[in-house]
Amino acid sequence: MGRPKVFCTRKMPEVAFELAREVADVEVWEDEQAPPRDVLLAKAADCDGLITLLTEPVNEELFAAAPRLRIVAQMAVGFNNIDVPAATRRGIVVTNTPGVLTDTVVESTLGLLIAAGRRIAEADRYVRDGSWVVEWHPLMMLGQDICGSTVGIVGLGRIGRKVADVLLLLGANIVYTDAYPQPEYEAANAGRVRRAELAELCRVSDFISLHCDLNPGSRHLIGEPEIALMKRNCVIVNTARGPIIDQEALTRALAEHRIGAAGLDVFEKEPLSSDHPLCKLENVVLLPHLGSASLGTRTNMARLVGENIRSFFSGRLPPNALNPEAFNKL
Ligand code: DGY
Repeated sequence: MGRPKVFCTRKMPEVAFELAREVADVEVWEDEQAPPRDVLLAKAADCDGLITLLTEPVNEELFAAAPRLRIVAQMAVGFNNIDVPAATRRGIVVTNTPGVLTDTVVESTLGLLIAAGRRIAEADRYVRDGSWVVEWHPLMMLGQDICGSTVGIVGLGRIGRKVADVLLLLGANIVYTDAYPQPEYEAANAGRVRRAELAELCRVSDFISLHCDLNPGSRHLIGEPEIALMKRNCVIVNTARGPIIDQEALTRALAEHRIGAAGLDVFEKEPLSSDHPLCKLENVVLLPHLGSASLGTRTNMARLVGENIRSFFSGRLPPNALNPEAFNKL
């Protein structure tokens, strides 16, 4: 048997390929656009491994086209684009890149919370377009403080918990939802962190930050009924996955000033078209899915991808296997 073949659907920091090439022949799709579906299916046909991004549906159709496929190494912590149970049934190992992007996503989240709460993008446009004609005055472009506010964290996992840590330092109180209660964290921050139902979180929060996975249960977790409970000043930030919020309902609420503002890094459909009504609103800050986009973090994510591929084709369980049972089956 010759060396395994790996196809990677996009360019990424070279370290991924340096590590993978120690054990496999690697072909990289050089375009910024993802390969068209028929091209991906054709490439997968004689591959033993695939390196994917969150933009590729990795599902039964792809697995059926790839009889030799044994590992899918995703360059992302999220893997809602991958049908992991289907991969497991076929004995295909799936890996992701957890941990290394936590701090960078936390920083992006804080950036959006502050930018949306303190109107930073709107103020930048105000200066550039010549609207700043009256000098300093006490009522100009007032925003709201994080200090002293209540922040709702939806999903107190790795990222949500670290966002909460920083917000506590800034003087906020935290209300969270999570399938798993965290009594020790609550006790360590007595009186300042408590778990609540989503409806209550929506009612009491001045800021809400989303950090849960996208799965069938969290699709449109924040829709019209939840928005209707929110305070008029509420600032909502999403650096998780677009479909967790019903984007049309959010757009209407922002346009009608039923809530304060939003900071969005992710959308139901990406890229967001520049003629989307969200782009016309002053009270929303928009980013093109940059949550983990620092050079250092993307390099670390690529390194994990390479290590997962290298371990697998060296006969070891990859460090970030999401379905180790598929490896044991082999
Ligand atoms: C992830 O890793 O899931 C991000 O959305 C991409 O950085």
